[in-house]
Amino acid sequence: FPISQFQDALLSWFERNMRDLPWRKDRDPYKIWVSEIMLQQTQVDTVIPYFNRFMERFPSLEALAEAPEDDVLKHWEGLGYYSRARNLQTAVKEVQEQYGGKVPDEPNEIAKLKGVGPYTAGAILSIAYGKPEPAVDGNVMRVFSRIFAIQEDIQKPKTRKLFEELIRGLIPENSTSYFNQGIMELGALICRPKSPQCMFCPVIEMCQGRSLGIEQELPVKQKK
Ligand code: ADE
Repeated sequence: FPISQFQDALLSWFERNMRDLPWRKDRDPYKIWVSEIMLQQTQVDTVIPYFNRFMERFPSLEALAEAPEDDVLKHWEGLGYYSRARNLQTAVKEVQEQYGGKVPDEPNEIAKLKGVGPYTAGAILSIAYGKPEPAVDGNVMRVFSRIFAIQEDIQKPKTRKLFEELIRGLIPENSTSYFNQGIMELGALICRPKSPQCMFCPVIEMCQGRSLGIEQELPVKQKK
């Protein structure tokens, strides 16, 4: 597999096509963290106004740590899955108390925070800190299952690990943030679940799913 050709094609596509999203304006780990939690069960277009209101009211990790829970939940109203908001505030308080307000940049430490699973940990480490960590969610598995024609059931816990190891071998050391965000963006804009827009894909020549004509069958998701 032509790794550096893949990296170059993806990164230059992302630089030309990335959406102007409020959490992309700087690399504040707190903002990246909030955005990734909001984006877990909610679409980008819905998240944008919530994210902006949340940042107006809780502009820093310290502000969120000190806020009354009612106020936090009120700013989450309509996003649903309120445990996300509660866990976020619990974890933020932990960061405030145990790490002097600095979001940890070590995989082992960040993974201990409440509500921070492997995806969120990888997203913060790569996007905010530039660490070469994969950030694998359903969208990322869809994109890579097509590129490598992987037919493992993406609902099995072992499958995410397989993707993580695969992606570790592909991340460019000095562009981890744009690499991971580029894959997310490709999944959102081109490599959609239904009717992927392959004619606009920057890595179509390297896509095994496409060359086998099975891109629409991927990823494999066993019915529960
Ligand atoms: N979905 C999850 N994380 C995202 C991000 N950082 N940018 C765009 N969409 C996302």
